Amino acid sequence: MTTLTRVGIAGTGSHLPERVMTNDDFARIVDTSDEWITKRTGIKERRFVSEGENNSDLAYEAARRALENGGVRPEEVDLIVVGTLTADHLMPTVACQLQERLGCSGAGAFDVQSACTGFLTAMHTAEAFIASGRARCVLAIGSETLSRYLNMKDRSSCILFGDGAGAAVLRPLDECGQGEVLRTTLGADGSGFEYIHIPHGGTKVPHYHPEYDPEQHYIGLRGREVYRFAVGTMSRIIQEMVDGYDPDEVGLIVPHQVNLRIIESAIERVGWGRERTLVNIDRFGNTSAASLPIALDEAHREGRLEKGKLVVLVAFGAGLTWGGSLLRW
Ligand SMILES: CC(C)(COP(=O)(O)OP(=O)(O)OC[C@H]1O[C@@H](n2cnc3c(N)ncnc32)[C@H](O)[C@@H]1OP(=O)(O)O)[C@@H](O)C(=O)NCCC(=O)NCCS
Repeated sequence: MTTLTRVGIAGTGSHLPERVMTNDDFARIVDTSDEWITKRTGIKERRFVSEGENNSDLAYEAARRALENGGVRPEEVDLIVVGTLTADHLMPTVACQLQERLGCSGAGAFDVQSACTGFLTAMHTAEAFIASGRARCVLAIGSETLSRYLNMKDRSSCILFGDGAGAAVLRPLDECGQGEVLRTTLGADGSGFEYIHIPHGGTKVPHYHPEYDPEQHYIGLRGREVYRFAVGTMSRIIQEMVDGYDPDEVGLIVPHQVNLRIIESAIERVGWGRERTLVNIDRFGNTSAASLPIALDEAHREGRLEKGKLVVLVAFGAGLTWGGSLLRW
């Protein structure tokens, strides 16, 4: 039987665009208020890319920082996996843009799309490649420019999202000595396909189709259904990830930053860990696939990843999809 290589996280990085959009900025565009948005979502502000700034620019900077943080040279990377639903182009991929810009000569490169579960999908792919001996050094990235898919006339969705990117470099544990990936899970339930959905602009209804409606080329949400699904799924995955471990060993829970109330309800259901749950949605909103790696990098830089403690990552997204991971830092 082949022995699997144990995999760790050598370094992390993130990058947010400079342009800040506050709740008051939205109150000038749609019928909303800082009070409503804060109370219902926990968001105070989020970042949007500026004209001429693109997903690949955010991803490049996050990846560059992760490599620097992990002490990894670009030419050591042999695979780049980007989780994104907002690539610069329908094809080719952001991962290929990064391969060239970072100078990862000869590396494989592809994007994966599972919406807000995108980073965990990228990270689990990275882990599987290294564990099975098919790669030794993999960049896993989550990067989004969701501001380009927001209907600025729909107050129930446009206030929720932000842009940003985060990255992690994965290597065999014996080469990096931290962030061991102990457990991973990914799942999907396509019966919720239309809960979070961009109906037009794909090949079913392309922009030249007679039925094409520009309003349908934005993210549409069934917020209340997603809310219920999210609370149940996030609490279930957290419990699954720590099953068999002592919850006191968990130093940090890093949930997808979807809505403060969803995060709080999920943690309440779990029954422990409230004070050990990372929340940064107040500053960045929901950055989809970028949400987890931005939060993980923030925790890393602030020294919140304690040596020897467990870290739980949990996300869900359009599809519907979900994922979880248990790390030992
Ligand atoms: C969208 C969300 C914040 C709405 O919060 P909520 O408490 O469920 O609010 P409701 O949808 O019940 O709407 C309550 C009222 O607020 C109104 N409202 C919605 N957005 C508003 C806004 N930005 N400002 C003011 N009022 C708003 C609604 O029109 C509704 O008014 P009505 O009662 O007169 O019809 C919440 O459901 C949510 O976060 N859902 C998940 C979001 C999601 O899918 N994210 C992507 C997943 S990765």
